[in-house]
Amino acid sequence: MTVHFIGAGPGAADLITVRGRDRIAACPICLYAGSLVAPEILSWCPPGARIIDTAPLSLDAIMAEIEAAHAQGQDVARLHSGDLSIWSALAEQLRRLDRLGIPYTLTPGVPSFAAAAAVLERELTVPGLAQSVVLTRTSGRASAMPERERLAAFAATGATLAIHLSIHVIEAVAQELVPHYGADCPAAVVFRATWPDETVIRGSLATIPQLVHAATLERTAIIFVGPALDAREFRESALYAADYDRRFRPNGAVGGKSP
Ligand SMILES: C[S@@+](CC[C@H](N)C(=O)[O-])C[C@H]1O[C@@H](n2cnc3c(N)ncnc32)[C@H](O)[C@@H]1O
Repeated sequence: MTVHFIGAGPGAADLITVRGRDRIAACPICLYAGSLVAPEILSWCPPGARIIDTAPLSLDAIMAEIEAAHAQGQDVARLHSGDLSIWSALAEQLRRLDRLGIPYTLTPGVPSFAAAAAVLERELTVPGLAQSVVLTRTSGRASAMPERERLAAFAATGATLAIHLSIHVIEAVAQELVPHYGADCPAAVVFRATWPDETVIRGSLATIPQLVHAATLERTAIIFVGPALDAREFRESALYAADYDRRFRPNGAVGGKSP
């Protein structure tokens, strides 16, 4: 028996990996993380599968389901939204499984920040403007931010920020960032990227809080901030420059052959 942790992607069912879909189809038990996992994804569970929404369950209750499946020798598909590596409560589940000696696998998913960047039709790293992306959040009821990870500390780098779980405090976020990026810095919010009700709001640090409030939208959103969001004047990447030497295109030759 194995617990298969699967990143279910940002919303649209066809953004799950083929491996993730196949694992779901092979597991008689599916535990999924509430409303952020699309119903179509659950339809790939085999007929008669036991399908449980874990949103209202405690970690103890989730582990009880897994232990019962283990006792019966039944594989479990454990679905989380986006990718498993960020804000999925994965670490605590793996620690419990390690203690119990229950085996598991991890299948990555499309993270919501990547899906939202695609919706914006933007690259988050642009030559000369930003070469780092900070995936962060503000303090919430479930998790306080470590003191060193203040928004202002990340903002001091000028990197592109992808701020999760924070749309409800967008005024405070903008206020904290203005001294570092300037009031005119481009900002964008993507609500429910890749869901049918996906919504995009574009503005600046000065305007975005008001624009978000006027839209009165549901909470699942990412706030992006940084000059890369509205990059027009920037140099092209050297990687594809005609005179750039690289391993597969020595001396800048076209088609991978040296002149
Ligand atoms: C508990 S975290 C899960 C993050 C997830 N593991 C990932 O890889 O993106 C939930 C937060 O992710 C962001 N999020 C998840 N799905 C989203 C989507 N489809 N569109 C915009 N933001 C999303 C929101 O900031 C939301 O509050």
